[in-house]
Amino acid sequence: MITLSLFKADLGSAVGHHKPPKEILSMAKEGLEKLRKRKKIIDFLVFNAGDDLQVLLSHKKGKRNESLYKEIWNLFLYITKEFSIPSKLYGAGQDLIAKKYTKGLEGTGIGIAEMSFKERKTEPVLVFGADKTEPSAFNIFLYKIFADPFNTPGLVISLIMRRGFEFIVVDLEKHKKASLKAPEEIYELLSLLGSTSQYAVREVYRRADKEIAMVGTITKLSGVAGKYIGKDDPSMLIRVGKGFPSVGEVLEAFSFPYLVNGWMRGSHYGPLIPVSLKDSRVSRFDGPPRIVCIGVQLKNGEITYPTDMFEDVAFDRVREKALEYADLIRRQGPFQPHRGTLEEMRYTSLKEVINSLKKKWKKLD
Ligand code: F6R
Ligand code: MG
Ligand code: MG
Repeated sequence: MITLSLFKADLGSAVGHHKPPKEILSMAKEGLEKLRKRKKIIDFLVFNAGDDLQVLLSHKKGKRNESLYKEIWNLFLYITKEFSIPSKLYGAGQDLIAKKYTKGLEGTGIGIAEMSFKERKTEPVLVFGADKTEPSAFNIFLYKIFADPFNTPGLVISLIMRRGFEFIVVDLEKHKKASLKAPEEIYELLSLLGSTSQYAVREVYRRADKEIAMVGTITKLSGVAGKYIGKDDPSMLIRVGKGFPSVGEVLEAFSFPYLVNGWMRGSHYGPLIPVSLKDSRVSRFDGPPRIVCIGVQLKNGEITYPTDMFEDVAFDRVREKALEYADLIRRQGPFQPHRGTLEEMRYTSLKEVINSLKKKWKKLD
């Protein structure tokens, strides 16, 4: 069995919440190279999604391996102490919420997505990282990939895929999970996935043989810290091809810039733009929300042919459309539905602003 473990955290960026300096990425690579030499991991991949550092490990230690978790915690802390803080980076160590290592990295603020499987004869995997948005931003795309035949013809044509996929949906408020099966429960599934302020997909399984197809990070930093301290920028891994949706079927879902929550102060809806790694940063209105995708081929756990999947003219039009969408929705300024609902804003300082107006309220005459 091979395990892929994806970790992400904002350890600091420049200028402001733009992107991590290259030193952060190279320090992460150096640290992971040591782990590889000590045979703790087989291979690794380091990249950034906007201002977040993303680290993918391949190894044989299985999911929730405490010794690897500790290595990641120590590495992220080391980068923060040795570089982010002395360099006075913006939000230095922002996502390291816990004071010290906690079991399972629980409550630390580091996002984790892990999957274990027997490597197939050929094992392509897509690694996604998004910035200035939240885990449930992926709901609409995952529905299209794994349940919508208008996006994924394999659901109709492939003998394996026509048996459908099982979604593990997490209630981010109540910390519970539910299993829903596509295609027979798609209406029930949509009742949850459409409620993006509360439900996100953690895993998807292929029903024909219960093989893992997708896993995503579902950390809610506000839930961990009790207040808004940055958005819970999500990442995910998707296995592709040979009985899973193909590379093209997965990427096709990103051919329209659906609106997601996040963007400025984690409080505004905006289009999710698929971008190449060179555009993996945020600028206008601290965004717009972006997603990058690195495709890899596993070779006995080795991560080979890392490829920038959105670096392609085929995505130029969706990017153009996203910018138009951004112009339109920005006109709405501080009004809903560009700004999130009061319920969605409850961890932000807007609550305190509204509370400070208490004395202004008089009885209606
Ligand atoms: C959103 C984000 C930014 C900040 C904004 C204000 O995820 O990180 O939009 O919320 O730049 O930042 P502060 O509070 O540091 O002034
Ligand atoms: Mg940041
Ligand atoms: Mg971020």
